[in-house]
Amino acid sequence: MLVRLCLGVLPFVGAALAQAAAQFTDPDNGITFWGITDAAHSVTYGYVFPPLATSGPNPDEYIATIVSPLANQWSGYALSGSMIDSLLIAAWPNNGKIVFTTRYATTNILPDVYNGPKITTLSTGTYVNSTHWKWVYRCQNCTSWTGGSIDVNSPAAVPAWSSSTIAVDNPADPGTTMVQHTDFGFYFFPFAEAHVTASVYNNWASGGTGGGTTAPPTSTTTTTATPTATATPVDYIVVGSGPGGIITADRLSQAGKSVLLLERGGPSTGQTGGTYQADWLKGTNLTKFDVPGLFESMFTDPKEFWWCKDINVFAGCLLGGGGSVNGALYWLPSDQDFSTASGWPQQWTNHQPYTAALKARLPPTDAPSTDGKRYLEEVSNVVAQLLIPQGYRNVTINNSPNDKDHIYGYSAYDFVKGKRGGPVATYLQTSLARKNFQLKLNTYVWNVIRNGSQITGVKTNDTGVQDGIYPLKPGGRVILSAGTYGSARILFRSGIGPTDMINLVKGDPVAGPLLPPQAQWINLPVGFNVSDNPSINLVFTHPSVNSYDNWADVFTPGPPAADAAQYLASQSGIMAQASPRLNFWQAMGSTDGVTRWLQGTARPGAASVTTKFPYNQTQIFTITAYLSTGIKSRGRIGINAALNAMPLVNPWLVDPGDKSALITGLKNIASGTALVPGMVMITPDNTTTIDAYVNAYDPSTMDSNHWVGSNIIGPAGKAVVDVNTKVYNTNNLFVVDASIVPTLPFGNPHGLIMSMAEQAAAKILALAT
Ligand SMILES: Cc1cc2nc3c(=O)[nH]c(=O)nc-3n(C[C@H](O)[C@H](O)[C@H](O)COP(=O)(O)OP(=O)(O)OC[C@H]3O[C@@H](n4cnc5c(N)ncnc54)[C@H](O)[C@@H]3O)c2cc1C
Ligand SMILES: *[C@@H]1O[C@H](CO)[C@@H](O)[C@H](O)[C@H]1NC(C)=O
Ligand SMILES: *[C@@H]1O[C@H](CO)[C@@H](O)[C@H](O)[C@H]1NC(C)=O
Ligand SMILES: *[C@@H]1O[C@H](CO)[C@@H](O)[C@H](O)[C@H]1NC(C)=O
Ligand SMILES: *[C@@H]1O[C@H](CO)[C@@H](O)[C@H](O)[C@H]1NC(C)=O
Ligand SMILES: *[C@@H]1O[C@H](CO)[C@@H](O)[C@H](O)[C@H]1NC(C)=O
Ligand SMILES: *[C@@H]1O[C@H](CO)[C@@H](O)[C@H](O)[C@H]1NC(C)=O
Ligand SMILES: *[C@@H]1O[C@H](CO)[C@@H](O)[C@H](O)[C@H]1NC(C)=O
Ligand SMILES: *[C@@H]1O[C@H](CO)[C@@H](O)[C@H](O)[C@H]1NC(C)=O
Ligand SMILES: *[C@@H]1O[C@H](CO)[C@@H](O)[C@H](O)[C@H]1NC(C)=O
Repeated sequence: MLVRLCLGVLPFVGAALAQAAAQFTDPDNGITFWGITDAAHSVTYGYVFPPLATSGPNPDEYIATIVSPLANQWSGYALSGSMIDSLLIAAWPNNGKIVFTTRYATTNILPDVYNGPKITTLSTGTYVNSTHWKWVYRCQNCTSWTGGSIDVNSPAAVPAWSSSTIAVDNPADPGTTMVQHTDFGFYFFPFAEAHVTASVYNNWASGGTGGGTTAPPTSTTTTTATPTATATPVDYIVVGSGPGGIITADRLSQAGKSVLLLERGGPSTGQTGGTYQADWLKGTNLTKFDVPGLFESMFTDPKEFWWCKDINVFAGCLLGGGGSVNGALYWLPSDQDFSTASGWPQQWTNHQPYTAALKARLPPTDAPSTDGKRYLEEVSNVVAQLLIPQGYRNVTINNSPNDKDHIYGYSAYDFVKGKRGGPVATYLQTSLARKNFQLKLNTYVWNVIRNGSQITGVKTNDTGVQDGIYPLKPGGRVILSAGTYGSARILFRSGIGPTDMINLVKGDPVAGPLLPPQAQWINLPVGFNVSDNPSINLVFTHPSVNSYDNWADVFTPGPPAADAAQYLASQSGIMAQASPRLNFWQAMGSTDGVTRWLQGTARPGAASVTTKFPYNQTQIFTITAYLSTGIKSRGRIGINAALNAMPLVNPWLVDPGDKSALITGLKNIASGTALVPGMVMITPDNTTTIDAYVNAYDPSTMDSNHWVGSNIIGPAGKAVVDVNTKVYNTNNLFVVDASIVPTLPFGNPHGLIMSMAEQAAAKILALAT
């Protein structure tokens, strides 16, 4: 065939370069590459190199990946950035396998096959699926060639990519003839930075998996480091300062125990030393996390340092955990929430004293503005008009927690004095006043240190203490309160959980060597049994409603001037409350005869609107319908090879009875719309049925961030923790957070989690030491 390679030195485009390589992690194997995804064809190119030599020649190899949509018949690159006198590497899929070729061109002819490079395809991460082909490989003898080379220590070189919409002539043959690429481009690449340690590189190069970014410094740098002190042993190490951890740590320290609370994140509210604030708050010590009215801006602020970057659902990684970034909706638990029918052991059903203790420390309020007035309540009035004809009663919800059928009332919160309150403003403050309590921020716990069933301390990333280790006193205990994802991951990294998860840890060059020997692995159903409320939004308009500009401006440039001034003067007004205004509950039947409950939350504004018809943006409001008590669906969470935590099996509406019940609840709401003059449902609009809407709903947007159950409490052989929250087959490891909760409560869960922590602390203190 005719060769139409248009060669000639491709121009260096310098300033016109749009893209610069960035680091990314391959979710299939944990390899951290530097590279780009080209904007035109969505092909990802990535490279990672062994360490630079300290003397002698630099290594001549790298590990690389190409991830390409099938629409590209082949994709390739020249690391030198030039198509002539260069080593060109290209690949394409053939019968589910990757075929690759190395070429070299000197003039306007088909580049010859070039021998010299030794390419080994790495199987973990190489595949062809229905949309993409993906190739991960080791390329040895690949940094220099006849007449050329790349500088692996260059701070900013300019490699080229190329791809083609025209297939090679004989895809089975690496030496096939092929026409020139149909497109190509350049990008900046910092070769000097794209190196990892020898142990990490060698692990990957030999087919191993696992993250490499958290690699400890190499021995050459540790030998020069100043020796660090051994940390003082304590009675209790509590890992994680969410609602579960703070309350547990406070009750243990109140009982006179020495307690160390370790938190991976930094400060949150102004009271804790937080400083991240909106311009309109300058001059105060109020942060984003203090001001209730900034809740919706958590999801739209590009800074978003508060989300855990290694968990791929929303989780708060700062002091206070989810409690510092959540909507703070606060429901005192009902008796059913702690019943055996809800999966709790009999010994947990007497929750009332603990719930009373919680209420005494942290009273709920449904009028959080400091002047006691309610603001922006148009939505409450409209939704009440929809509910009353359906037989709903108006109640103060937390005055009768057991009353959850056909009731509605004002949204209740654990805000205190017009600011975020929660356990950080209450329980943590009493702890901090005690000499036997210590809080350490920015300290990431990797694993517990374990000899068989005995835990002796925790291993952290803290370089300020010997080996990063915080030890326990003899008879001491570790309590994991790192959340549904965080605590599960610490267990995996400590050799506790299903073997498939621990094997992923084993493959990690940093975490693997810290695992106990395989004979000491403890097989428990960590990660199974999780649930989260499936939630579906309905969006409406009503002429009386003020959508508050959909909360779009509250952080930047700020709320309306009068509202900002009022809040600054006295923590009162619209900004003293998060977005929800009204909540309601209803019991519903389902196709399987099981009763399930629906929670409704109404708020001004909407996350998204889908309708063919025009509507008035200033009048929009949302009712979120959550399926709560009675949910049967369960999912599974876990980690990938990069040790990032994520859902492995989604828990929403897996069970047909769950789906039928939620649809019934949504239809009840939708049908009530007609009874309210001026109220129009705009999502779904009248061209889409509720059934069709639910069937088409993106499952990932059903996430309510209410994850529970990954370290479920229950009987030996079925559960992860026992009746005292102790991890089975350990002597002194406990879990107290959302992850032990067997079944979701009626309402948003952090009220239940806090009562649970009160009770767990009492049970742990009652154990003999
Ligand atoms: C966006 C959002 C909105 C929500 N809205 C509401 C609501 O309005 N009402 C309600 O009741 N619930 C709400 N929730 C849920 C509620 O916040 C959680 O159920 C609750 O925070 C769980 O508490 P926890 O103590 O189990 O764990 P978390 O709150 O997740 O706390 C875990 C803590 O451990 C730390 N940690 C994790 N891993 C490590 C480690 N390896 N080393 C050291 N520290 C670690 C984390 O940084 C975090 O501070 C919401 C959640 C989210 C994410
Ligand atoms: C490396 O490649 C060159 C050609 O670029 C070749 O001459 C040489 O033999 C190769 N070295 C090895 C060890 O394969
Ligand atoms: C195919 O693999 C690519 C690359 O990992 C991924 O982005 C894509 O979602 C996969 N497609 C399907 C249908 O699973
Ligand atoms: C923050 O401001 C409040 C109210 O003015 C004050 O009580 C508190 O001491 C201040 N905290 C800090 C750390 O400045
Ligand atoms: C419930 O009734 C009380 C007393 O009549 C009233 O003040 C309140 O506004 C009502 N609540 C709601 C949410 O409509
Ligand atoms: C430990 O990890 C935390 C959370 O990722 C981080 O903020 C902190 O800087 C790390 N500490 C060290 C010494 O690397
Ligand atoms: C581990 O525990 C066993 C007994 O339970 C003990 O014999 C052994 O010395 C311990 N090992 C270490 C390293 O502490
Ligand atoms: C939209 O609604 C607001 C508030 O009800 C009203 O003031 C405005 O006139 C409406 N705009 C249009 C175009 O109807
Ligand atoms: C559907 O809704 C639109 C917009 O509210 C309205 O104009 C139209 O008349 C409705 N159609 C029917 C069949 O009700
Ligand atoms: C948790 O899930 C596992 C696996 O699905 C199951 O065998 C076990 O019974 C469940 N445990 C509880 C307490 O529900």
